[in-house]
Amino acid sequence: MRVDGAELRSPPDRDSLRSLRPVTAALGSPMSEKSDALAVPVDVTMRRPTLFGVPAMPILAAPLVVRRAQVEEAGALAVLLGRAFEAESWDAAGTERELCCDETVRATLVVAAEGRLVATASLQVRPDVPECGWVRWVATDLDRRREGLARALVIGVLAMAGQAGCREARLHTQTDRLAAIPLYLQLGFEPFVRGDPEREVWERVIRLLSGEAGGRLT
Ligand SMILES: CC(C)(COP(=O)(O)OP(=O)(O)OC[C@H]1O[C@@H](n2cnc3c(N)ncnc32)[C@H](O)[C@@H]1OP(=O)(O)O)[C@@H](O)C(=O)NCCC(=O)NCCS
Repeated sequence: MRVDGAELRSPPDRDSLRSLRPVTAALGSPMSEKSDALAVPVDVTMRRPTLFGVPAMPILAAPLVVRRAQVEEAGALAVLLGRAFEAESWDAAGTERELCCDETVRATLVVAAEGRLVATASLQVRPDVPECGWVRWVATDLDRRREGLARALVIGVLAMAGQAGCREARLHTQTDRLAAIPLYLQLGFEPFVRGDPEREVWERVIRLLSGEAGGRLT
């Protein structure tokens, strides 16, 4: 999947989903048509097979700034992550431990608006697989969504992964993250499919995103 500035400005789902058509068409086997196919979210992985072609970081309008989070901001990060990941509980100590004190977490980027943290994303590189940069903890505060903040941060994380010597990027997500998956597709991530069950799951997600299953994005 080619990613450049022009593709970034186009609607995210159409280009991304079109590129997945050959994948789904090649599968051949019929899918089951349960209407509640995605009722139970499934953990899935996405992969950007190269770190070439990472778009330039968009310039955010003042007073928004993209920068690294400081360890002293663990409490503010916990608030942001707790609001974005409603089913999870985040506290300052856990956030500091997981994001700030784990040496495999190379950086946590934030968008700050006059001191308030409004979006975040992190880069993790595991020593056993140094060629792979993991995009972690992508979140935008509820009142700042669809402003391009997560896109800017994921681009920043991909750029840092390249600078760290990684050759590809991966991330874990869930099939009900129907805002995040188009973002990742738009930035060159592809479904990471290791077998028929995952292929079937991704086919359902793609159908849902393209509206074929009557699904709505939230
Ligand atoms: C997913 C999330 C981080 C997106 O943050 P955001 O700052 O609003 O995203 P952006 O404004 O950068 O959106 C970039 C692209 O993502 C896609 N996108 C974002 N929100 C979307 C939505 N609600 N529906 C459909 N597509 C969406 C679009 O392709 C969008 O591009 P466009 O605005 O040009 O159409 C945010 O919705 C969030 O925090 N969700 C809860 C936490 C979460 O799911 N994190 C990801 C875990 S893997």
